This record gives sequence, structure tokens and C-alpha cells, in this order.
Amino acid sequence: MKEIRLDKYLGEMGEGTRSQIKEMAKKGRIWVDGIPEKRTERKIDPERNQVTVDGRQVSYVDFEYYMLNKPQGVVSATEDKRYETVISLITERKRDDLFPVGRLDIDTEGLLLITNDGALAHKLLSPKKHVDKVYYARIEGTLPSDAKERIGEGLILSDGTPTLPALLEVLETGEVTEVYLTIREGKFHQVKRMFETLGCHVVYLKRISMGSLLLDEALKPGEYRTLREEEIEELKKGK
Ligand code: URA
Repeated sequence: MKEIRLDKYLGEMGEGTRSQIKEMAKKGRIWVDGIPEKRTERKIDPERNQVTVDGRQVSYVDFEYYMLNKPQGVVSATEDKRYETVISLITERKRDDLFPVGRLDIDTEGLLLITNDGALAHKLLSPKKHVDKVYYARIEGTLPSDAKERIGEGLILSDGTPTLPALLEVLETGEVTEVYLTIREGKFHQVKRMFETLGCHVVYLKRISMGSLLLDEALKPGEYRTLREEEIEELKKGK
């Protein structure tokens, strides 16, 4: 890992702004290798130097990866004036620059990757990469008999936007229809709008997977866990 300025190191670990950190250093609250350090511009080797704030060790991590089962009522944003955000649910986070990879609507549940790895996020979100996303949906009533074919050919949404061919699997049909829908893009409210085009209303939506990453069924809505090393590698490989 490369060397990094002390103020950047502490800032990224959520210890405060650059000026707050300078102030803390002036007061002798920041120590490096057992000695108070006032020069916040000095370089730190995260693998060799030991940094403490008020005697508490602050270790450095450059990337964090969390899988969240997003609950309803929480927004997929880093900050919001009215609602709780998905980031605030990651209570054990170390870095202050985490963001959700893509958005789920406030009333959608399920898989959300939360990281600060911009390159991976770009890979997963880029429209050119066509990463598969699988959703489980419950729909009021029944679908038209040709729903699978129409979705398979690609639909034209009510505002004229075309969708790429997608895959529909009907699990259950009756008063409520249960389906899996696999799409390869992520337009605004895409799943709900696709079913609206077919004259149907989605009453419950949950994302099950994104590329190779599957929602861990042990996670209840609102719960999260760190990604395993092999899950990160598979996502990076784009499998
Ligand atoms: N499609 C939707 O309509 N909503 C989501 O949250 C995700 C996909």
C-alpha cells in the first residue's frame, strides 16, 4: 500500500475534516508510533506506522465492500434530508466515502452493494457491460398471456424508451402473480415501468442478484455483511 498524508489517512477513516484534524493534532491528540505528531501533512505508511487518536488506534483500509439487504423506507443515497440512507445502516463502516452501487427505489428491498471502489461500480453500472440483475416481483392480478414473449423481445415504455430483451419466469399466478425478471440495464423504475407497459402493477419488488453477486438469504431486510474475498474477485472478473 502506498504512503498517504496523515490528514488524508484520518479524513478517509472518518476522523474529521482536514481543519478539524489539524486542530486535533495541535492539541496533541494524534500520535504516530507512540509520539505526538503535529505535522498533519507528513506521510504515513499504513502497513508500518501506527496511528492513534486520543489513544485509540485508527487502522487504514483502502476498500470496503458490503452486501446490504436493503429494507423499505430507506433511500439509496449517501445523504438525504428526509429519509435514512443505506449508508447509515452500515454501522461498522470505516471509510467515509462509501456509496451504493446503483439505486433501488425507496419501497424496493434486496441486494445492494455498498463500497468505495469506483472502478468496480463503473464496471457493474456501465450500460455497455450489460450486467444481469435478477428481481423477484409480486404483481397484482395476472399478466397478459404473451408477457414472456413481449418482455423477451424488448418493450417500449410509456415515454417511448425501449428496453433490451429481458427474461421473465412466472413462479405463481392467481390473484397475485409472482415472477423473476432478469434485466441487463438499470433505467429509472425500470421493472415497475416494464410491468406497467403490460398493464400490471408491481406491489412488491426485491433484487436477488447483480452479476455474480447473490443476495445472502441469511440477511434480513436492514442487515448486511462484508463481501467474501472470492465474491469480490468474481465481480471484478465480471463472471
Ligand atoms: N426497477 C424498479 O422499478 N425499481 C427498483 O428499485 C429497481 C428496478
